[in-house]
Amino acid sequence: MMIMRTCNRWLVMLLAASVAVMNAPARGDDNSIPHIVQKDGRYALFVDGAPYLILGAQVNNSSGWPAVLPKVWPAMEFMHVNTVEIPIYWEQFEPEYGKFDYSVLDTLLNQAREENLHLVLLWFGTWKNGSNHYMPRWMKLDPDRYPNIVRADGQFIDSPSPVAKDTLAADIQAFTTLMRHLKEADPDHTVLMVQVENEPGAWDGVRDYSPAAQALFDGPVPDEVLAGMGKSGVKPSTNWRDAFGADADEYFQVWCVSKFIGQVAAAGKTVYPLPMYVNASVRDPFKPGRPPKYECGGPNDNVFPIWKAEAPAVDLLAPDIYQRETAKFLKVLDLYHRADNPLFVPESIGQGAYARFLFAALGRGAIGFAPFGLDYTRTFDSPSDPNMTAEQALSPTALNYELIGPMSREIALLNFEGKLQTAVDEREPRAPEPQTPPTADAENPRLEPPDQILHFESWDVPVWFRPMRRFDINQSAVPAAPLPPNGRALVAQLGENQFLVTGLYSRVGFLPAGAAAKKPWQYLSVEEGEYVNGVFKTSRILNGDQTDWGLIFRANPSVLRVTLYLR
Ligand code: DGJ
Repeated sequence: MMIMRTCNRWLVMLLAASVAVMNAPARGDDNSIPHIVQKDGRYALFVDGAPYLILGAQVNNSSGWPAVLPKVWPAMEFMHVNTVEIPIYWEQFEPEYGKFDYSVLDTLLNQAREENLHLVLLWFGTWKNGSNHYMPRWMKLDPDRYPNIVRADGQFIDSPSPVAKDTLAADIQAFTTLMRHLKEADPDHTVLMVQVENEPGAWDGVRDYSPAAQALFDGPVPDEVLAGMGKSGVKPSTNWRDAFGADADEYFQVWCVSKFIGQVAAAGKTVYPLPMYVNASVRDPFKPGRPPKYECGGPNDNVFPIWKAEAPAVDLLAPDIYQRETAKFLKVLDLYHRADNPLFVPESIGQGAYARFLFAALGRGAIGFAPFGLDYTRTFDSPSDPNMTAEQALSPTALNYELIGPMSREIALLNFEGKLQTAVDEREPRAPEPQTPPTADAENPRLEPPDQILHFESWDVPVWFRPMRRFDINQSAVPAAPLPPNGRALVAQLGENQFLVTGLYSRVGFLPAGAAAKKPWQYLSVEEGEYVNGVFKTSRILNGDQTDWGLIFRANPSVLRVTLYLR
Protein backbone atom coordinates (compact mmCIF):
# COMPACT_ATOMS: atom_id res chain seq x y z
CA MET A 1 0.00 0.00 0.00
CA MET A 2 2.80 2.34 1.01
CA ILE A 3 4.70 1.56 -2.21
CA MET A 4 1.58 2.01 -4.31
CA ARG A 5 0.94 5.40 -2.80
CA THR A 6 4.51 6.46 -3.41
CA CYS A 7 4.46 5.38 -7.09
CA ASN A 8 1.14 7.04 -7.50
CA ARG A 9 2.61 10.19 -6.10
CA TRP A 10 5.44 10.17 -8.62
CA LEU A 11 3.12 9.70 -11.57
CA VAL A 12 0.82 12.44 -10.43
CA MET A 13 3.86 14.61 -9.88
CA LEU A 14 4.78 14.07 -13.53
CA LEU A 15 1.23 14.92 -14.56
CA ALA A 16 1.36 17.99 -12.40
CA ALA A 17 4.79 19.00 -13.62
CA SER A 18 3.64 21.71 -16.00
CA VAL A 19 1.44 23.29 -13.36
CA ALA A 20 4.02 22.90 -10.63
CA VAL A 21 6.81 24.40 -12.71
CA MET A 22 4.66 27.45 -13.37
CA ASN A 23 3.48 27.95 -9.84
CA ALA A 24 5.63 26.30 -7.22
CA PRO A 25 8.54 28.14 -5.66
CA ALA A 26 11.81 27.95 -7.56
CA ARG A 27 14.01 24.89 -6.99
CA GLY A 28 16.09 25.13 -3.90
CA ASP A 29 13.26 27.04 -2.24
CA ASP A 30 11.10 25.29 0.38
CA ASN A 31 9.37 23.25 -2.30
CA SER A 32 9.15 20.18 -0.11
CA ILE A 33 7.12 21.94 2.59
CA PRO A 34 3.39 21.64 2.01
CA HIS A 35 2.20 24.91 0.56
CA ILE A 36 -0.80 26.45 -1.12
CA VAL A 37 -0.58 27.55 -4.73
CA GLN A 38 -2.98 29.90 -6.49
CA LYS A 39 -3.63 29.93 -10.24
CA ASP A 40 -6.37 31.95 -11.96
CA GLY A 41 -8.33 32.18 -8.71
CA ARG A 42 -8.11 28.42 -8.11
CA TYR A 43 -6.08 26.81 -5.34
CA ALA A 44 -4.24 23.60 -4.58
CA LEU A 45 -2.47 22.33 -1.50
CA PHE A 46 0.85 21.05 -2.84
CA VAL A 47 2.26 18.10 -0.93
CA ASP A 48 5.42 16.42 -2.23
CA GLY A 49 5.26 18.73 -5.23
CA ALA A 50 1.75 17.95 -6.49
CA PRO A 51 -1.84 18.90 -5.63
CA TYR A 52 -3.20 16.95 -2.67
CA LEU A 53 -6.82 16.58 -1.60
CA ILE A 54 -7.51 16.36 2.12
CA LEU A 55 -10.07 13.60 2.63
CA GLY A 56 -10.21 14.17 6.34
CA ALA A 57 -12.05 13.68 9.57
CA GLN A 58 -11.75 15.62 12.79
CA VAL A 59 -11.58 13.67 16.03
CA ASN A 60 -13.62 14.57 19.07
CA ASN A 61 -12.22 17.29 21.29
CA SER A 62 -10.77 14.95 23.92
CA SER A 63 -9.56 12.23 21.54
CA GLY A 64 -6.06 13.61 20.98
CA TRP A 65 -4.64 11.83 24.04
CA PRO A 66 -2.44 8.73 23.58
CA ALA A 67 -4.85 6.75 25.77
CA VAL A 68 -7.66 7.42 23.31
CA LEU A 69 -5.80 6.97 20.02
CA PRO A 70 -6.74 3.25 19.81
CA LYS A 71 -10.30 4.53 19.27
CA VAL A 72 -9.13 6.96 16.59
CA TRP A 73 -6.97 5.09 14.10
CA PRO A 74 -9.38 2.18 13.41
CA ALA A 75 -12.14 4.70 12.68
CA MET A 76 -9.87 6.50 10.23
CA GLU A 77 -9.04 3.24 8.52
CA PHE A 78 -12.71 2.34 8.29
CA MET A 79 -13.41 5.68 6.61
CA HIS A 80 -10.41 5.58 4.20
CA VAL A 81 -9.33 8.97 5.54
CA ASN A 82 -5.99 10.28 4.28
CA THR A 83 -5.59 13.12 6.80
CA VAL A 84 -6.66 13.36 10.44
CA GLU A 85 -7.38 16.65 12.16
CA ILE A 86 -6.35 16.39 15.78
CA PRO A 87 -5.92 18.93 18.60
CA ILE A 88 -2.80 19.96 20.47
CA TYR A 89 -3.86 21.11 23.91
CA TRP A 90 -1.98 24.08 25.33
CA GLU A 91 -2.74 22.89 28.90
CA GLN A 92 -0.93 19.62 28.11
CA PHE A 93 1.83 21.16 26.01
CA GLU A 94 2.98 23.76 28.56
CA PRO A 95 1.92 22.46 31.99
CA GLU A 96 4.28 24.91 33.71
CA TYR A 97 5.32 28.27 32.37
CA GLY A 98 8.14 27.77 29.86
CA LYS A 99 8.28 23.96 30.34
CA PHE A 100 7.07 22.10 27.30
CA ASP A 101 5.92 18.51 27.04
CA TYR A 102 6.38 17.10 23.53
CA SER A 103 5.30 13.58 24.39
CA VAL A 104 1.78 13.75 23.01
CA LEU A 105 2.87 15.49 19.82
CA ASP A 106 5.61 12.90 19.27
CA THR A 107 3.16 10.06 19.87
CA LEU A 108 0.78 11.55 17.34
CA LEU A 109 3.53 11.90 14.75
CA ASN A 110 4.83 8.37 15.27
CA GLN A 111 1.44 6.69 15.23
CA ALA A 112 0.17 8.70 12.26
CA ARG A 113 3.23 7.60 10.29
CA GLU A 114 2.62 3.98 11.23
CA GLU A 115 -0.93 4.40 9.98
CA ASN A 116 0.31 6.06 6.77
CA LEU A 117 -1.80 9.12 7.55
CA HIS A 118 -1.19 12.83 7.33
CA LEU A 119 -2.21 15.20 10.12
CA VAL A 120 -3.64 18.67 10.44
CA LEU A 121 -2.87 19.96 13.92
CA LEU A 122 -5.41 22.12 15.72
CA TRP A 123 -3.79 24.55 18.15
CA PHE A 124 -6.23 24.73 21.03
CA GLY A 125 -4.52 27.81 22.44
CA THR A 126 -5.95 31.09 23.68
CA TRP A 127 -9.33 30.42 22.04
CA LYS A 128 -11.37 27.24 21.88
CA ASN A 129 -14.96 27.92 20.81
CA GLY A 130 -14.59 31.48 22.05
CA SER A 131 -13.39 30.48 25.54
CA ASN A 132 -10.02 30.17 27.25
CA HIS A 133 -10.63 26.60 28.41
CA TYR A 134 -7.42 25.09 26.99
CA MET A 135 -5.13 27.66 28.58
CA PRO A 136 -2.77 26.03 31.09
CA ARG A 137 -3.68 26.15 34.78
CA TRP A 138 -0.96 28.68 35.53
CA MET A 139 -2.77 31.09 33.21
CA LYS A 140 -6.29 30.33 34.38
CA LEU A 141 -5.21 30.89 37.98
CA ASP A 142 -3.75 34.30 37.13
CA PRO A 143 -6.72 36.17 35.63
CA ASP A 144 -5.22 39.59 36.30
CA ARG A 145 -2.37 38.80 33.98
CA TYR A 146 -4.38 36.72 31.48
CA PRO A 147 -7.80 38.35 31.67
CA ASN A 148 -11.10 37.62 30.08
CA ILE A 149 -13.24 40.16 28.28
CA VAL A 150 -15.07 42.76 30.35
CA ARG A 151 -18.54 43.38 28.99
CA ALA A 152 -20.28 46.80 28.80
CA ASP A 153 -22.05 46.00 32.09
CA GLY A 154 -18.69 45.41 33.79
CA GLN A 155 -19.07 41.61 33.97
CA PHE A 156 -16.25 39.30 32.92
CA ILE A 157 -17.41 36.83 30.28
CA ASP A 158 -16.06 33.38 29.42
CA SER A 159 -13.78 34.59 26.65
CA PRO A 160 -10.15 35.73 26.65
CA SER A 161 -9.39 39.38 26.09
CA PRO A 162 -7.80 39.86 22.67
CA VAL A 163 -5.89 42.93 23.88
CA ALA A 164 -4.13 41.18 26.80
CA LYS A 165 -0.44 41.56 25.99
CA ASP A 166 0.78 38.83 28.33
CA THR A 167 -1.68 36.34 26.84
CA LEU A 168 -0.42 37.18 23.37
CA ALA A 169 3.20 36.83 24.45
CA ALA A 170 2.52 33.48 26.12
CA ASP A 171 0.62 32.16 23.10
CA ILE A 172 3.36 33.24 20.72
CA GLN A 173 5.98 31.55 22.88
CA ALA A 174 4.03 28.30 23.10
CA PHE A 175 3.01 28.24 19.43
CA THR A 176 6.51 28.98 18.14
CA THR A 177 7.86 26.25 20.42
CA LEU A 178 5.33 23.87 18.92
CA MET A 179 6.31 24.84 15.37
CA ARG A 180 10.03 24.61 16.18
CA HIS A 181 9.63 21.11 17.53
CA LEU A 182 7.49 20.15 14.56
CA LYS A 183 10.11 21.36 12.14
CA GLU A 184 12.71 19.15 13.78
CA ALA A 185 10.53 16.13 14.51
CA ASP A 186 8.65 16.01 11.22
CA PRO A 187 11.09 16.21 8.31
CA ASP A 188 8.78 14.12 6.10
CA HIS A 189 5.80 16.44 6.58
CA THR A 190 3.34 14.14 8.24
CA VAL A 191 1.72 17.40 9.32
CA LEU A 192 0.29 19.31 6.36
CA MET A 193 -1.35 22.32 7.95
CA VAL A 194 -1.94 23.94 11.31
CA GLN A 195 -5.14 25.51 12.55
CA VAL A 196 -4.26 28.52 14.71
CA GLU A 197 -6.71 28.59 17.68
CA ASN A 198 -10.22 27.17 17.38
CA GLU A 199 -13.31 29.20 16.53
CA PRO A 200 -11.91 32.38 18.06
CA GLY A 201 -14.13 35.22 19.23
CA ALA A 202 -16.68 35.68 21.99
CA TRP A 203 -20.15 34.28 22.46
CA ASP A 204 -21.65 36.20 25.35
CA GLY A 205 -20.58 39.72 24.51
CA VAL A 206 -19.56 41.68 21.48
CA ARG A 207 -16.29 43.30 22.47
CA ASP A 208 -13.89 44.00 25.30
CA TYR A 209 -14.69 47.12 27.39
CA SER A 210 -11.60 46.88 29.59
CA PRO A 211 -9.75 50.23 29.91
CA ALA A 212 -7.02 49.02 27.52
CA ALA A 213 -9.57 47.96 24.91
CA GLN A 214 -11.69 51.09 25.37
CA ALA A 215 -8.67 53.32 24.75
CA LEU A 216 -8.08 51.57 21.44
CA PHE A 217 -11.77 51.78 20.57
CA ASP A 218 -11.74 55.54 21.14
CA GLY A 219 -8.62 55.91 19.00
CA PRO A 220 -8.33 56.06 15.20
CA VAL A 221 -9.35 53.12 13.02
CA PRO A 222 -6.29 51.77 11.17
CA ASP A 223 -6.15 52.69 7.48
CA GLU A 224 -6.22 49.08 6.30
CA VAL A 225 -9.49 48.47 8.15
CA LEU A 226 -11.06 51.63 6.74
CA ALA A 227 -9.95 50.66 3.24
CA GLY A 228 -10.97 47.01 3.59
CA MET A 229 -14.43 47.86 4.91
CA GLY A 230 -15.08 50.45 2.21
CA LYS A 231 -14.55 53.60 4.29
CA SER A 232 -11.44 55.01 2.64
CA GLY A 233 -13.21 58.36 2.34
CA VAL A 234 -13.46 59.10 6.06
CA LYS A 235 -10.99 61.31 7.91
CA PRO A 236 -7.83 59.37 8.89
CA SER A 237 -8.24 60.04 12.63
CA THR A 238 -11.86 58.82 12.77
CA ASN A 239 -12.60 56.56 15.72
CA TRP A 240 -14.42 53.23 15.52
CA ARG A 241 -17.86 54.49 16.48
CA ASP A 242 -17.78 57.40 14.05
CA ALA A 243 -16.47 55.25 11.22
CA PHE A 244 -18.75 52.25 11.60
CA GLY A 245 -21.73 53.27 13.74
CA ALA A 246 -23.75 50.22 14.83
CA ASP A 247 -21.08 47.84 13.43
CA ALA A 248 -18.25 49.48 15.36
CA ASP A 249 -18.21 47.09 18.34
CA GLU A 250 -18.20 44.02 16.12
CA TYR A 251 -15.52 45.27 13.71
CA PHE A 252 -13.36 46.39 16.62
CA GLN A 253 -13.53 42.95 18.23
CA VAL A 254 -12.71 41.35 14.86
CA TRP A 255 -9.75 43.68 14.47
CA CYS A 256 -8.43 42.82 17.95
CA VAL A 257 -8.83 39.06 17.48
CA SER A 258 -7.45 38.96 13.93
CA LYS A 259 -4.46 41.11 14.92
CA PHE A 260 -3.72 38.82 17.87
CA ILE A 261 -3.96 35.63 15.81
CA GLY A 262 -2.16 37.23 12.89
CA GLN A 263 0.81 37.75 15.20
CA VAL A 264 0.69 34.20 16.57
CA ALA A 265 0.54 32.74 13.05
CA ALA A 266 3.31 35.02 11.75
CA ALA A 267 5.60 34.07 14.61
CA GLY A 268 4.93 30.37 14.05
CA LYS A 269 5.52 30.71 10.33
CA THR A 270 8.85 32.41 10.85
CA VAL A 271 9.96 29.25 12.59
CA TYR A 272 8.32 26.76 10.24
CA PRO A 273 6.17 28.01 7.33
CA LEU A 274 3.47 25.36 7.09
CA PRO A 275 0.10 26.49 5.69
CA MET A 276 -2.07 27.92 8.48
CA TYR A 277 -5.74 28.63 8.77
CA VAL A 278 -8.35 29.99 11.16
CA ASN A 279 -11.81 28.44 11.48
CA ALA A 280 -15.07 30.25 12.02
CA SER A 281 -18.23 29.30 13.81
CA VAL A 282 -20.14 30.65 10.86
CA ARG A 283 -23.14 32.89 11.25
CA ASP A 284 -26.42 32.21 9.50
CA PRO A 285 -25.65 32.97 5.85
CA PHE A 286 -29.10 34.38 5.10
CA LYS A 287 -30.33 36.02 8.31
CA PRO A 288 -27.26 36.59 10.45
CA GLY A 289 -28.67 39.22 12.79
CA ARG A 290 -26.03 40.88 14.93
CA PRO A 291 -23.63 39.56 17.58
CA PRO A 292 -24.02 38.23 20.21
CA LYS A 293 -26.51 36.24 18.10
CA TYR A 294 -23.39 34.73 16.56
CA GLU A 295 -19.84 34.38 17.83
CA CYS A 296 -18.09 37.72 17.41
CA GLY A 297 -14.45 38.11 16.39
CA GLY A 298 -13.85 35.13 14.11
CA PRO A 299 -13.55 35.12 10.33
CA ASN A 300 -17.19 35.49 9.40
CA ASP A 301 -18.09 36.31 5.82
CA ASN A 302 -18.82 40.00 6.55
CA VAL A 303 -15.37 40.73 7.98
CA PHE A 304 -13.03 38.99 5.55
CA PRO A 305 -11.18 42.21 4.64
CA ILE A 306 -10.22 42.82 8.28
CA TRP A 307 -8.89 39.27 8.68
CA LYS A 308 -7.03 39.38 5.37
CA ALA A 309 -5.42 42.72 6.28
CA GLU A 310 -4.48 41.91 9.88
CA ALA A 311 -3.50 38.24 9.54
CA PRO A 312 -1.62 37.86 6.24
CA ALA A 313 0.29 34.86 7.64
CA VAL A 314 -3.01 32.99 7.75
CA ASP A 315 -3.38 31.26 4.39
CA LEU A 316 -7.09 30.69 4.56
CA LEU A 317 -10.23 31.39 6.52
CA ALA A 318 -12.33 28.28 6.92
CA PRO A 319 -15.99 27.64 7.70
CA ASP A 320 -17.15 25.09 10.28
CA ILE A 321 -20.46 24.10 8.72
CA TYR A 322 -23.15 22.74 11.01
CA GLN A 323 -26.00 24.24 9.02
CA ARG A 324 -28.66 21.56 8.64
CA GLU A 325 -30.54 23.16 5.76
CA THR A 326 -29.18 22.39 2.31
CA ALA A 327 -29.51 25.97 1.07
CA LYS A 328 -27.58 27.31 4.06
CA PHE A 329 -24.82 24.70 3.79
CA LEU A 330 -24.31 25.50 0.12
CA LYS A 331 -24.45 29.24 0.72
CA VAL A 332 -21.69 29.00 3.33
CA LEU A 333 -19.53 27.11 0.83
CA ASP A 334 -20.13 29.90 -1.69
CA LEU A 335 -19.21 32.58 0.85
CA TYR A 336 -15.84 30.99 1.64
CA HIS A 337 -15.00 30.07 -1.96
CA ARG A 338 -13.46 33.33 -3.05
CA ALA A 339 -10.67 34.38 -5.34
CA ASP A 340 -8.72 35.55 -2.26
CA ASN A 341 -9.43 32.45 -0.16
CA PRO A 342 -8.82 28.74 -0.74
CA LEU A 343 -11.89 26.76 0.29
CA PHE A 344 -11.25 24.23 3.05
CA VAL A 345 -13.96 22.76 5.30
CA PRO A 346 -12.28 21.69 8.55
CA GLU A 347 -15.53 20.76 10.30
CA SER A 348 -18.99 19.79 9.19
CA ILE A 349 -21.77 17.35 9.94
CA GLY A 350 -20.73 14.03 8.43
CA GLN A 351 -23.64 11.76 9.20
CA GLY A 352 -26.26 10.58 6.75
CA ALA A 353 -27.03 12.60 3.68
CA TYR A 354 -24.76 15.47 4.84
CA ALA A 355 -21.85 13.47 3.45
CA ARG A 356 -22.92 14.51 -0.05
CA PHE A 357 -21.65 18.02 0.63
CA LEU A 358 -18.09 16.77 0.10
CA PHE A 359 -19.00 16.86 -3.58
CA ALA A 360 -20.46 20.36 -3.26
CA ALA A 361 -17.18 21.50 -1.73
CA LEU A 362 -15.16 19.83 -4.50
CA GLY A 363 -17.31 21.59 -7.10
CA ARG A 364 -16.23 24.84 -5.50
CA GLY A 365 -12.56 23.93 -5.73
CA ALA A 366 -12.06 22.78 -2.12
CA ILE A 367 -8.58 21.66 -1.10
CA GLY A 368 -10.09 19.46 1.60
CA PHE A 369 -13.09 18.44 3.66
CA ALA A 370 -13.39 16.96 7.14
CA PRO A 371 -16.55 16.03 9.03
CA PHE A 372 -16.31 16.48 12.79
CA GLY A 373 -16.34 13.95 15.61
CA LEU A 374 -15.90 10.77 13.64
CA ASP A 375 -13.97 8.40 15.88
CA TYR A 376 -14.95 5.43 18.01
CA THR A 377 -15.38 7.39 21.26
CA ARG A 378 -18.98 8.07 20.18
CA THR A 379 -18.72 11.54 21.70
CA PHE A 380 -20.41 13.51 18.95
CA ASP A 381 -23.39 11.54 17.80
CA SER A 382 -26.00 12.58 15.34
CA PRO A 383 -28.46 14.73 17.25
CA SER A 384 -31.10 13.70 14.74
CA ASP A 385 -30.60 9.99 15.41
CA PRO A 386 -29.16 9.15 18.83
CA ASN A 387 -29.56 5.42 18.15
CA MET A 388 -27.20 5.41 15.21
CA THR A 389 -24.40 2.86 15.56
CA ALA A 390 -20.78 3.94 15.12
CA GLU A 391 -20.64 2.11 11.83
CA GLN A 392 -23.74 3.90 10.64
CA ALA A 393 -22.31 7.26 11.65
CA LEU A 394 -19.03 6.65 9.86
CA SER A 395 -20.35 4.85 6.76
CA PRO A 396 -21.40 7.85 4.64
CA THR A 397 -17.95 9.39 4.92
CA ALA A 398 -16.36 5.97 4.38
CA LEU A 399 -18.30 5.57 1.15
CA ASN A 400 -17.23 8.99 -0.12
CA TYR A 401 -13.58 8.37 0.60
CA GLU A 402 -13.59 4.79 -0.67
CA LEU A 403 -14.76 6.27 -3.96
CA ILE A 404 -12.57 9.38 -4.15
CA GLY A 405 -9.55 8.17 -2.17
CA PRO A 406 -7.82 6.08 -4.86
CA MET A 407 -7.91 9.04 -7.26
CA SER A 408 -7.62 11.92 -4.80
CA ARG A 409 -4.43 13.23 -6.40
CA GLU A 410 -6.03 13.19 -9.85
CA ILE A 411 -9.13 14.94 -8.48
CA ALA A 412 -7.00 17.62 -6.81
CA LEU A 413 -5.11 18.23 -10.05
CA LEU A 414 -8.23 18.30 -12.24
CA ASN A 415 -9.82 20.74 -9.83
CA PHE A 416 -6.75 22.95 -9.77
CA GLU A 417 -6.85 23.02 -13.57
CA GLY A 418 -10.52 24.03 -13.55
CA LYS A 419 -11.75 20.86 -15.25
CA LEU A 420 -14.02 19.49 -12.57
CA GLN A 421 -17.67 20.12 -11.80
CA THR A 422 -20.08 18.52 -9.36
CA ALA A 423 -23.76 18.37 -8.58
CA VAL A 424 -25.48 17.47 -5.33
CA ASP A 425 -29.13 16.94 -4.64
CA GLU A 426 -30.19 20.37 -3.42
CA ARG A 427 -33.55 19.40 -1.97
CA GLU A 428 -34.06 20.04 1.74
CA PRO A 429 -33.84 16.96 3.99
CA ARG A 430 -37.49 17.01 4.98
CA ALA A 431 -38.97 17.71 1.55
CA PRO A 432 -41.67 15.19 0.76
CA GLU A 433 -40.74 14.55 -2.89
CA PRO A 434 -37.81 12.18 -2.44
CA GLN A 435 -40.06 9.29 -1.51
CA THR A 436 -42.30 9.84 -4.57
CA PRO A 437 -40.95 8.41 -7.81
CA PRO A 438 -41.67 10.63 -10.79
CA THR A 439 -44.68 9.30 -12.72
CA ALA A 440 -43.15 9.36 -16.19
CA ASP A 441 -40.18 7.37 -15.00
CA ALA A 442 -41.56 3.96 -15.92
CA GLU A 443 -41.93 5.09 -19.50
CA ASN A 444 -38.74 6.79 -20.53
CA PRO A 445 -36.41 8.11 -17.85
CA ARG A 446 -34.28 9.77 -20.50
CA LEU A 447 -37.06 12.29 -21.07
CA GLU A 448 -37.33 13.23 -17.41
CA PRO A 449 -36.18 16.80 -16.86
CA PRO A 450 -32.84 16.62 -15.04
CA ASP A 451 -32.41 18.02 -11.56
CA GLN A 452 -29.28 19.86 -12.62
CA ILE A 453 -27.21 20.39 -15.74
CA LEU A 454 -23.44 20.85 -15.68
CA HIS A 455 -22.06 22.86 -18.58
CA PHE A 456 -18.76 22.05 -20.26
CA GLU A 457 -17.58 23.72 -23.45
CA SER A 458 -19.05 21.31 -25.97
CA TRP A 459 -21.07 18.98 -23.73
CA ASP A 460 -23.88 19.48 -21.26
CA VAL A 461 -24.18 16.92 -18.48
CA PRO A 462 -27.69 16.42 -17.09
CA VAL A 463 -27.85 14.89 -13.61
CA TRP A 464 -30.88 13.23 -12.03
CA PHE A 465 -31.29 12.49 -8.34
CA ARG A 466 -34.89 11.35 -8.24
CA PRO A 467 -35.52 7.65 -7.86
CA MET A 468 -36.08 5.70 -11.03
CA ARG A 469 -38.16 2.57 -10.86
CA ARG A 470 -36.37 0.67 -13.56
CA PHE A 471 -32.93 0.82 -11.92
CA ASP A 472 -33.49 2.25 -8.48
CA ILE A 473 -30.57 4.53 -7.66
CA ASN A 474 -31.32 4.19 -3.97
CA GLN A 475 -30.86 0.44 -3.85
CA SER A 476 -28.13 -0.05 -1.31
CA ALA A 477 -26.21 -2.64 0.61
CA VAL A 478 -24.57 0.08 2.70
CA PRO A 479 -25.49 0.13 6.39
CA ALA A 480 -27.92 2.94 7.14
CA ALA A 481 -27.84 4.25 3.61
CA PRO A 482 -28.96 7.85 3.96
CA LEU A 483 -32.44 8.72 2.83
CA PRO A 484 -32.72 11.13 -0.07
CA PRO A 485 -31.69 13.85 -0.69
CA ASN A 486 -28.40 11.98 -0.86
CA GLY A 487 -27.38 12.23 -4.55
CA ARG A 488 -24.01 13.48 -5.68
CA ALA A 489 -22.11 13.41 -8.96
CA LEU A 490 -18.68 14.48 -10.14
CA VAL A 491 -17.67 15.06 -13.76
CA ALA A 492 -14.21 16.10 -14.93
CA GLN A 493 -13.08 16.76 -18.46
CA LEU A 494 -10.14 14.59 -19.52
CA GLY A 495 -10.15 15.43 -23.23
CA GLU A 496 -12.36 17.17 -25.78
CA ASN A 497 -14.86 14.29 -25.78
CA GLN A 498 -13.71 12.36 -22.74
CA PHE A 499 -14.84 12.66 -19.11
CA LEU A 500 -14.21 11.10 -15.75
CA VAL A 501 -17.61 10.48 -14.17
CA THR A 502 -18.52 9.21 -10.75
CA GLY A 503 -21.17 9.67 -8.11
CA LEU A 504 -23.50 8.06 -5.61
CA TYR A 505 -27.29 7.78 -5.73
CA SER A 506 -27.51 9.61 -9.05
CA ARG A 507 -27.89 9.24 -12.80
CA VAL A 508 -25.75 11.14 -15.29
CA GLY A 509 -26.21 11.74 -19.03
CA PHE A 510 -24.57 13.72 -21.83
CA LEU A 511 -25.81 16.10 -24.54
CA PRO A 512 -23.79 17.91 -27.19
CA ALA A 513 -23.67 21.65 -26.54
CA GLY A 514 -22.37 24.83 -28.14
CA ALA A 515 -21.80 24.50 -31.88
CA ALA A 516 -22.65 20.79 -31.68
CA ALA A 517 -25.97 21.30 -29.85
CA LYS A 518 -28.73 18.91 -30.96
CA LYS A 519 -26.35 16.81 -33.07
CA PRO A 520 -26.77 13.05 -32.71
CA TRP A 521 -24.22 11.41 -30.47
CA GLN A 522 -23.31 8.12 -28.84
CA TYR A 523 -21.01 6.66 -26.25
CA LEU A 524 -17.88 5.38 -27.92
CA SER A 525 -17.04 3.64 -24.68
CA VAL A 526 -17.99 3.72 -21.04
CA GLU A 527 -15.10 2.14 -19.18
CA GLU A 528 -15.45 1.26 -15.52
CA GLY A 529 -12.17 1.09 -13.69
CA GLU A 530 -9.84 2.79 -11.27
CA TYR A 531 -6.69 4.85 -11.17
CA VAL A 532 -3.62 2.75 -10.44
CA ASN A 533 -0.32 4.58 -10.18
CA GLY A 534 -1.92 7.57 -11.86
CA VAL A 535 -3.15 5.57 -14.87
CA PHE A 536 -6.78 4.65 -15.48
CA LYS A 537 -7.10 0.86 -15.61
CA THR A 538 -10.28 -0.46 -17.21
CA SER A 539 -11.94 -3.42 -15.53
CA ARG A 540 -14.99 -3.66 -17.81
CA ILE A 541 -16.82 -1.76 -20.52
CA LEU A 542 -20.39 -0.86 -19.63
CA ASN A 543 -23.11 -0.97 -22.26
CA GLY A 544 -26.76 -1.95 -22.72
CA ASP A 545 -28.89 -1.51 -19.60
CA GLN A 546 -25.92 0.07 -17.83
CA THR A 547 -25.78 3.00 -20.26
CA ASP A 548 -29.10 3.13 -22.15
CA TRP A 549 -30.91 5.10 -19.42
CA GLY A 550 -27.97 7.17 -18.34
CA LEU A 551 -24.99 6.28 -16.19
CA ILE A 552 -26.40 5.03 -12.93
CA PHE A 553 -24.54 5.41 -9.66
CA ARG A 554 -25.84 3.65 -6.58
CA ALA A 555 -24.08 3.02 -3.27
CA ASN A 556 -21.30 0.90 -4.70
CA PRO A 557 -18.23 2.90 -5.73
CA SER A 558 -17.96 3.07 -9.49
CA VAL A 559 -15.63 5.27 -11.53
CA LEU A 560 -16.20 5.68 -15.27
CA ARG A 561 -14.10 7.03 -18.10
CA VAL A 562 -16.60 8.05 -20.73
CA THR A 563 -15.67 8.69 -24.35
CA LEU A 564 -18.31 10.30 -26.57
CA TYR A 565 -18.63 10.93 -30.28
CA LEU A 566 -20.88 12.86 -32.61
CA ARG A 567 -22.49 10.75 -35.29
C1 DGJ B 1 -17.16 23.34 16.80
C2 DGJ B 1 -15.82 23.26 17.45
O1 DGJ B 1 -14.85 23.91 16.67
C3 DGJ B 1 -15.39 21.83 17.72
O2 DGJ B 1 -14.18 21.82 18.42
C4 DGJ B 1 -16.49 21.12 18.48
O3 DGJ B 1 -16.66 21.73 19.71
C5 DGJ B 1 -17.73 21.15 17.61
N1 DGJ B 1 -18.15 22.51 17.45
C6 DGJ B 1 -18.89 20.27 18.09
O4 DGJ B 1 -19.34 20.60 19.31
